Amino acid sequence: MTNRDPAAEQLQEYKKSSSKTQTITTGFGAPVDTKSASLTVGPQGPILLQDATYLDEITHFDRERIPERVVHAKGAGAFGYFEVTHDVTKYTKACIFSQIGKRTDLVVRFSTVGGESGSADTVRDPRGFAVKFYTEEGVWDIVGNNTPIFFIRDPLLFPSFIHTQKRNPVTHLKDADMFWDFISLRPETTHQTMILFSDRGIPDGYRFMNGYGSHTFKLVNAKGEAFWCKFHYKTDQGIKNLPVEKAAELASSDPDYNIRDLYNAIHMGNYPSWTFYIQVMTLEEAKTSKFNPFDLTKVWSHSDFPLIPVGKIVLNRNPSNYFTDVEQAAFAPDHLIPGIEPSPDKMLQGRLLAYSDTHRHRLGPNFLQLPVNCPYRVTIANQQRDGPQCYHNQGGAPNYYPNSFSGPAPSPSVKQTPFEISGVVDRYESGDEDNFTQAKLFWQKVLSPEERTRLIENTVNSLKYAVDFIQERAVKNFANVDEEFGARLRDGLQLAKKNKANL
Ligand code: HEM
Repeated sequence: MTNRDPAAEQLQEYKKSSSKTQTITTGFGAPVDTKSASLTVGPQGPILLQDATYLDEITHFDRERIPERVVHAKGAGAFGYFEVTHDVTKYTKACIFSQIGKRTDLVVRFSTVGGESGSADTVRDPRGFAVKFYTEEGVWDIVGNNTPIFFIRDPLLFPSFIHTQKRNPVTHLKDADMFWDFISLRPETTHQTMILFSDRGIPDGYRFMNGYGSHTFKLVNAKGEAFWCKFHYKTDQGIKNLPVEKAAELASSDPDYNIRDLYNAIHMGNYPSWTFYIQVMTLEEAKTSKFNPFDLTKVWSHSDFPLIPVGKIVLNRNPSNYFTDVEQAAFAPDHLIPGIEPSPDKMLQGRLLAYSDTHRHRLGPNFLQLPVNCPYRVTIANQQRDGPQCYHNQGGAPNYYPNSFSGPAPSPSVKQTPFEISGVVDRYESGDEDNFTQAKLFWQKVLSPEERTRLIENTVNSLKYAVDFIQERAVKNFANVDEEFGARLRDGLQLAKKNKANL
């Protein structure tokens, strides 16, 4: 036998750990006499309707699949803990940060974005990095990515944007025209598109990338003082990306490379960790900021808003069952706890509904009762009852509020901070709010000359499949970042055309 990794040894390990063979049962618990022959009239059939073993088996099988996530369908997950290393109680009263040394259990799900649940792991795509903290005041989810920014700044565009990353409705193929048409018509995508086509567009598995909450959130301390904040979790393993040739090779030889890498590392005790930081901006600073601090397409400069260390995320336990622990995990940006509140970021506001909504479709209205999603450190006490697959139904507690029978009561002490809002209600286009300043800094100050060359090669190798007028428009956008960037892309595309003509 060739050398096998821990993932390949899973069944051998099961065998070692289970002491004796159990009798097979039906779903309703009755012992089963045979699992290899259905109940038939004579050896040639037909099958009897009284074959409960068969009916129980097949009807469950017929319903095995649940809808895959509409985005981020392919993923890997693991459990671990968050440990506080620095005191940030002056910014937030969130219980998770109350004491240095405090540990809170968590689950993480990593993912690619555009592909289906069977798609290859090593594709060029942002990576999801969603964290669920099981705090004593409920679950807190940061549903982040491996990039500090995003493509768009208005959630009304999200379904269209995602459609362009998925399959053409006629050909059922990925379509370069759809992708680059949208990207080039919406120049606010420029900064994130450059990150996507840089080396960071294909991380070497999930352990070697950073995570970001990306949006601006609001922290509130025990005195009721509020601060704007961004969350960052930086890999302690160091950033590692895959060269494009290696990534392409792995996409066919080991399409589940990222899942395997995470499982094996944790199984071998090589626990990945991330250092957790916040950036903080006062409400006053936000009012006078030169850029919109709630614009998801922009970063906050680290020199103006330095990273403040807070703690560590450590992953030290593999799922005991993929479906129940990872596929059924349901993260939602509206899962916030006292001390952490939303900001006016339109994208965040758009996401506050979308996730719990899709979970009710994908997993059912009682998805929060599933063990992986359940805020198990809290006794749920409310007026919600019944619905499909309900098993925690709060006994005899009154199912209405107010009541005179000792039902649960609200706690005004956890009220969110009041804030003032004024403005004219309208639909405000945000497509051209300074799309290029930060993209220019990324090109000029962040990327090395070699990284710029690879960004150009990667972009050309995708853009060359789009129709000419879309190529032109995309190049024009990138030239707004830097003339040289545009010129080199144009040259690259011309060369690609020439090479194709000479084939
Ligand atoms: C308006 C913008 C957005 C909308 C409407 C949206 C919507 C969704 C939906 C419907 C899902 C599927 C959830 C599920 O079935 O479990 C999803 C998954 C996800 N989204 Fe978004 N999304 C948006 C933007 C973003 C942004 C900006 C980020 C990161 C900063 C992000 C990160 C993720 C992650 C990590 C997942 C996968 C969660 C998991 O592992 O289960 N999304 N999104």
